[in-house]
Amino acid sequence: MREATRLREIQPSFVRRLFDLATGSPDVISLGVGEPDMATPPHICEAAKRALDEGRTHYSPNAGILELRQAIAERYSNEYGLDYDPEEEIMVVVGCTEAIFCALAAFLEPGDEVLVPDPGYITYAPAVRIAGGRPVSVPVSGPDFWMRPEEVERAITERTKMVMLNFPSNPTGAVMPERPLHEILDIAGEHDLLVISDEIYEKFVYDGLEHVCLPALGATERVILVNGFSKTYAMTGWRVGYICAPKELMRAMFKVHQNVTSSTNTPAQWAALEALRGPQDFVREMVEEFDRRRRLVVRLLNSIEGFECPTPQGAFYAFPSVDGLGLNSEELANYLFERAKVVTSPGTAFGRHGEGHLRISYANTQENIKLAVERIRQAVEELRSRGPRMA
Ligand SMILES: Cc1ncc(COP(=O)(O)O)c(C=O)c1O
Repeated sequence: MREATRLREIQPSFVRRLFDLATGSPDVISLGVGEPDMATPPHICEAAKRALDEGRTHYSPNAGILELRQAIAERYSNEYGLDYDPEEEIMVVVGCTEAIFCALAAFLEPGDEVLVPDPGYITYAPAVRIAGGRPVSVPVSGPDFWMRPEEVERAITERTKMVMLNFPSNPTGAVMPERPLHEILDIAGEHDLLVISDEIYEKFVYDGLEHVCLPALGATERVILVNGFSKTYAMTGWRVGYICAPKELMRAMFKVHQNVTSSTNTPAQWAALEALRGPQDFVREMVEEFDRRRRLVVRLLNSIEGFECPTPQGAFYAFPSVDGLGLNSEELANYLFERAKVVTSPGTAFGRHGEGHLRISYANTQENIKLAVERIRQAVEELRSRGPRMA
């Protein structure tokens, strides 16, 4: 049986392949992962255990337990002055990944175009295709990696239905200020586009910057905010995410969610509730540690000849330019894996405009980061001494 036509352009994930190769090899250091290396805080785990002991093992309401939706509504009200109705405008789903899929599947007609950042998070383009749409790249380039309003405008056609935004960004670590985001919202308004704002790295902003929550800028009627607990609370394996959107949009997304996953894990939702309601020191401490690692990794990478690493202001990725080493980014990632036993991700895993870059995740200890970058340095020096295209 042949797979469906819309799946044919979806390539197996290179990042996943290196991840699989690295798993179980003790001498390999991974700077490839997209999740905090910290364990979920104990009080959150305890809440899940309590939920199990109390017999909360049944299906939850499709949109998630009301207590959690209320806590999400409260946090957006307190932190950004937003007013989402927990009953009709917030839905708890299986990670931000499902949130993105619901948003796409609910509104795309076959062939509709979705503007996606390039380089951008690895699942955006495949998710668009699975939902029947066509991903259209909006190039984002260094050193700031913002999505320029003029590039958005340029990519719009009659078929454009949605724009995907993701700040802080995976893979570039970019954070975008209010003004150009406003302009993108204005463009979306002029062309009647929906905007999906993936704010999963919301808490990972540095240098005293404040996260810009897109719907807080206005145009709430067209913004679908997606977020989750994976990164902020080191809860990637729990699979809890959520969508905040006006009820007119939520009704359609609810149909997708109800019929695709029905509801997310019930004890995990009680744990997520504890994450929001319980002490937040963990988040602050984790982000402070990521900030230290960020400074370390940028400094060390910039000391390697052939690497140029702008300082990212968000998320936990550095995205150095590695042009001029004579290898494309996939060849270089492969070489570093073989030679240095360090896993990195080639920029092209995130779109063709990622060529010439590596994504370096600093979700690893400072000690491992030092060791890994030292190994990279030695491997790169060896490569350079051999001359172009000799690896
Ligand atoms: C930008 C971005 N969005 C969404 C996700 C997926 O999040 P979740 O674990 O909540 O499905 C990731 C995970 O790496 C991500 O980097």
